[in-house]
Amino acid sequence: MAPILNLARFIRPYGKRAALALLLLTALVCMDLAIPRLVQRIIDEGIARGDQGTVLGTALGMIVISLVSALLAVGNNLLSVQAAEGVARDLRDALFIRIQTFSFADLDALKTGSLLVRLTSDTNAVQRVVMISLRIGTRAPLLMLGSLILMVLTSPRLALVMLPVLVLTSAVIVFFIVRMEPLFGSVQRRLDRLNTILQENISGARLVKAFVRADFEGERFAAANEELTGRAIRVMRILSGMPPVLSMCVNAGVVIVIWVGGLDAVEGDLTVGQIVAFTNYLLTTMAPLIMMTFLSNIWAAGIVSARRIDEVLRVVPAVQDAADASPLPRPVRGRLAFEKVSFRYGGEHAENVLDGIDLIVEPGQTVAFLGATGSGKSTLVNLVPRFYDPTAGRILLDGIDLRSVKQESLLAEIAVVPQETVLFSGTVRENIRYGAPEAGESEIVEAARAAQAHDFITALSKGYDTYVEERGTNLSGGQKQRIAIARALLMRPRILILDDGTSAVDVETETRIQEALASERDRTTLVVAQRISTVLRADRIVVLEGGRIAAQGSHAELMAVSPIYREIFDSQLGNDFSTAPLNDGGGPPPVEGGAP
Ligand SMILES: Nc1ncnc2c1ncn2[C@@H]1O[C@H](COP(=O)(O)OP(=O)(O)OP(=O)(O)O)[C@@H](O)[C@H]1O
Ligand SMILES: [Mg+2]
Repeated sequence: MAPILNLARFIRPYGKRAALALLLLTALVCMDLAIPRLVQRIIDEGIARGDQGTVLGTALGMIVISLVSALLAVGNNLLSVQAAEGVARDLRDALFIRIQTFSFADLDALKTGSLLVRLTSDTNAVQRVVMISLRIGTRAPLLMLGSLILMVLTSPRLALVMLPVLVLTSAVIVFFIVRMEPLFGSVQRRLDRLNTILQENISGARLVKAFVRADFEGERFAAANEELTGRAIRVMRILSGMPPVLSMCVNAGVVIVIWVGGLDAVEGDLTVGQIVAFTNYLLTTMAPLIMMTFLSNIWAAGIVSARRIDEVLRVVPAVQDAADASPLPRPVRGRLAFEKVSFRYGGEHAENVLDGIDLIVEPGQTVAFLGATGSGKSTLVNLVPRFYDPTAGRILLDGIDLRSVKQESLLAEIAVVPQETVLFSGTVRENIRYGAPEAGESEIVEAARAAQAHDFITALSKGYDTYVEERGTNLSGGQKQRIAIARALLMRPRILILDDGTSAVDVETETRIQEALASERDRTTLVVAQRISTVLRADRIVVLEGGRIAAQGSHAELMAVSPIYREIFDSQLGNDFSTAPLNDGGGPPPVEGGAP
């Protein structure tokens, strides 16, 4: 129940509408309850006494009541729909905004598929709960309560006789609800799983095709789908057992009323009209009971969904501004210092991915990170924009701990070309302008030129207005990367991070990009690379091995002192490579396994 209460604040903006809807509903229930009374009157005062006037007048009254009821129902419907749709919209907005605040670790923990389900079917489930709560969900219990009271008023003796039947019926319902409740949760979890597989497969459709794994994926999906269907059928099977049992109870009740009531009527204690009214009230007690069981389906699903929505809304981002965080003082010089930085990912990865990193990057320097795949290069550079916070140690920018500055002011100084290029659907221009929406045309072209993207963009059918499909499927890998580089450069960052940003670009183009980057003297650049050719021009090369710095220095220095580096060099460029544009001055002295 707690999650429902937590989400209750979302109904508040629609409080007036909801209250009015409930008011109309109450009036509606009163009218519903009046009908058996009027029937009783027609029988006892009209038909029994042969009074046509009463019959006609009462019948007319019933017609008027029906009309008013219809109007009340329409009003109630409109208001409920408005409130429920409004709540769902607000929930989606709140979820979306909350997900935007997620740090990388939070995104690791809550999978994309699961977040999508929470934003869509879970909000729908909550919307349904709001809807039924303002309509049948409240109408049914009110009707039941009113009928019970009127049953007692009509004939206390009969009502007493009915008591066991009502208790039995309630017991039957409780029995069913208790059995179904856990099933709803498992149905929802299976739906979640199905959606995760679906999401993975649709975004990875090309890979599935390339590896001829369609059959495998098909089976995986079918299995998950089957499981979901099996659960849903089990719920329905249990649920379908209920109406027959309940209608047996109701019929037994009616038989008892007529039997006991009939005897009373013979004695003259009850009128026929009273028996009819009582039977009607009995039926209006039972019908809502049955309805409420079906509603329990919606309720239970709603509670599960509310819990899942609440879970997202409660996430406290792993990376957050400290209470006393201040904006990064400007101008930023761009001196980075890693002090004994260690990092491990949450979850099963209990081991340190980075271990005791000590590193200083002077303003304007270009530092390249080289190392085997999985050695922690991406992890290391991801700590600079605080995509993750170090588990131990600290990182300073211009002498200020990153944890004490507002992340937004930090991100304003840093541009990242991520390892996996992400483009949005939109024009090439919009994609380049993504981080600097105010940039003018000449700046966009300038950034594109530096990224060696201008020429290929102008060769596209519509130039900068060419539409980039979702995730950039209509561009080549190297083209996407260069757009991503232009996007980063346009931000005029003080710190530029290229995580394997030119891996899909040919060496010649890469060299031109590097030359363009080098012209900006006061930008600190971190370059992650697999290729030796990418790192040759760096002021300093840091070799990572298993999350530790194995060696650092300029190319010439590392050739002299680092066996690992020599090995990488030999494997890529060969021993006879002698014309490399070596950088053998400027950098700090060679050091094995530590900071200069
Ligand atoms: N989001 C994550 N959650 C858990 N573990 C992760 C995550 N990202 C990376 N790792 C683990 O951390 C280690 C370092 O990964 P990282 O991505 O930093 O390597 P890398 O040097 O950039 O490799 P590559 O050259 O292949 O890009 C790997 O063992 C990887 O399995
Ligand atoms: Mg990487």
